Amino acid sequence: MTGALQFPDDFIWGASTAAHQVEGNNINSNWWVREHADGTDIKEPSGDACDSYHRYDEDISLLANSGLQMYRFSIEWARIEPEEGCFSQAELMHYARMIESCRAHGVEPMVTLHHFTVPRWFAAKGGWSNPSAPDLFVRYVRFVLPILDGVTWICTINEPNMVAMTQGGETGEDMAASSLPEPSEKIARIILQAHLQASALLRQDKSKRVGWSVAAQAFHAMPGCEQETSDYAYWRETFFFEHAAGDDWVGVQAYLRTFIGKHGPLPVPAEAEKTKNGWEYFPPALGIGVQTAWNLTGGVPVFVTENGLATDSDARRIDYTHDALLGLKKAMDLGIDVLGYLHWSLLDNYEWGSYDPTFGLISVDRKTFKRTPKPSLTWLGQVARTGMLNVPRP
Ligand code: BGC
Repeated sequence: MTGALQFPDDFIWGASTAAHQVEGNNINSNWWVREHADGTDIKEPSGDACDSYHRYDEDISLLANSGLQMYRFSIEWARIEPEEGCFSQAELMHYARMIESCRAHGVEPMVTLHHFTVPRWFAAKGGWSNPSAPDLFVRYVRFVLPILDGVTWICTINEPNMVAMTQGGETGEDMAASSLPEPSEKIARIILQAHLQASALLRQDKSKRVGWSVAAQAFHAMPGCEQETSDYAYWRETFFFEHAAGDDWVGVQAYLRTFIGKHGPLPVPAEAEKTKNGWEYFPPALGIGVQTAWNLTGGVPVFVTENGLATDSDARRIDYTHDALLGLKKAMDLGIDVLGYLHWSLLDNYEWGSYDPTFGLISVDRKTFKRTPKPSLTWLGQVARTGMLNVPRP
């Protein structure tokens, strides 16, 4: 029993955030524009977010003190290149200081280069539907490269499959994640080019381990709907895992499952327990996502770069995480190489339109920005310290 719950010694434990969701005042990004547009569909703007732009050192220190070992955060392209071709050395140094802070606290950084938001000028040029998008992205990555010296873990693009849906259509316009439109094959292919070109540049440094992170949706075929499910999944997930086959690792981000019937996705069953943002409470999504990634990539090592749930009950957060990790361990026992687990999220942050869905291991006062670690942070930190899943719950 004990052995079954013991994770390998070199397994990496940590937590993730994304720049727009925690930094605050990301005024040059397409999301800021959308948040403040007349008649916007956004419930509340990001504003100061968690003020992590100024408080990152405290965040990293809380993560380190809990026992976690890795911090995944993203660099905001709109800060680095606020106008096309106009690069900010000062903003670059801000991210260099974040990497230094990780080192000072004994935390391994994983740096994401693109997490949903883009500079407003890039969006105005058609965003990811513009065939020049890969070159524009790589020019930004080239500027960032010097501060990534010595950083091993790089995630080029967060959830390209979600981008191909939320930036669907040919206008580069964002769409609300709650009403996902059809995926765009054109955007999927352009964003893949961006990933491949950026990866080739980054891998000139042989010590780097580069990958991208895919939203794994645990598509579940209703009886007799296997073909429909496989068709539905292709441009929403499969394509993105298949094209990670040459990468150093593939990121799995798992939260929920999606039932597919003859005519597409079905609503979450009425009797199911739901999270604060209306998703089905379904911890096995993680084990399923990891298996899907492993099968579709032909055995690329998996990194769980996001997993968690929005809830006001921290005890339920621990239940969910415990059960998700149990499923993960079972997948590992089948021979799947899993490098680490990063919880989403370190902080209660801006959940793309609202502060209501709280995913954090740490709560943040919306006026003072005071951080209060939750019992789940202590619990996950203990799991990290011991490598054991059956540590006592706080
Ligand atoms: C995204 C995060 C988001 C989380 C919860 C992931 O799809 O990468 O930015 O906050 O899911 O919705």
